[in-house]
Amino acid sequence: MTAVPPGAAAGSSPSAIATATASANTNIALIKYWGKVDEAQAIPATSSLSLTLGGTRTTTTVSFDGGDGAADSVTINGASPSAVELGRVTRFLDLVRARSGVTAPATITSRASVPLAAGLASSAAGFAALAAAASRAAGMDLDGRELSRLARRGSGSATRSVFGGLVLWNAGHDDASSYAEPVACEMDLAMVVVVLSQRYKPISSTQAMRATMSSSPLFPAWVEASGRDLQVALEAVRSGDLARLGEIVEGNALGMHATMIAARPGIIYWLPQTVAALHAIRAMREEGLPVWATIDAGPNVKVLTEGARAEEVAAALRDRLTGTTVSVRRPGGGVRIEEGPCP
Ligand code: DP6
Repeated sequence: MTAVPPGAAAGSSPSAIATATASANTNIALIKYWGKVDEAQAIPATSSLSLTLGGTRTTTTVSFDGGDGAADSVTINGASPSAVELGRVTRFLDLVRARSGVTAPATITSRASVPLAAGLASSAAGFAALAAAASRAAGMDLDGRELSRLARRGSGSATRSVFGGLVLWNAGHDDASSYAEPVACEMDLAMVVVVLSQRYKPISSTQAMRATMSSSPLFPAWVEASGRDLQVALEAVRSGDLARLGEIVEGNALGMHATMIAARPGIIYWLPQTVAALHAIRAMREEGLPVWATIDAGPNVKVLTEGARAEEVAAALRDRLTGTTVSVRRPGGGVRIEEGPCP
């Protein structure tokens, strides 16, 4: 991180430009977040549990330097974002400006270490890194919980990327009570990511969860089931029972998709290869491999497994699912303030 002179962020020293760089890994939910009871505050309908994945960092530099003169100037992976993405970043920075007293537009440069085609492209890492860099550049010194609350306003799943390893996002009922925290975990976990399609999702998770809440008759049942799933998952983690955890993880993801498939019109992220992967994972399980599937708002499949067997599992998946890209991801750390600017 470039040092922020005290007071510079609030504009008291116009010659000093407040700059900071931060990075965050993406995370995959084991117990999913799907639906907000309060959109403005980003309060989720359910609590969720995730694993932060190593080697998936997005690094972001924020300078409150006046931007392009009138507005924030944003570059993501070397390109200009869409108008929708730019609007989302600016709305988020407006929150930071309102809280810190900084008024200047900003220049934001962000780069993901994992290519979008890797199936891990995620607003989670992006908004967690942005929250850390922007708040630091604005002279705010937030602790982990406060940072997770701020990241939440950018994207719900970003709340959890503030911390490493296993992370619980307490749904809460207002801004102060909706935050993430790390969960102690002695288990040797890994995720094997199977990229079946590099197609962008046809409908954003934000829109899809809104449609699910307003039109799926299964949504209330999903909320109830998810609360029970979370308790079972936490108990399985406490007792180190991977099979119990895996069963609940796969069931929770399938339940989330069933709920959105039942929306009117139905939201179907799956491709035929997604279903083929689910069957392959079942067959592998019957052969004795510790593998359980989870799927987010897209067609790709992530496989929860035991760290020690992750390479064996990846090889078996490559054999069975030809034409896919399979990579092993192990638990990674939380948000980090970086020394230099975004590469
Ligand atoms: C399926 O965090 O992308 O990955 O809060 O609207 O930005 P917004 O949604 P987002 O949703 C993630 C949904 C999910 C499940 C999960 O990560 O828990």
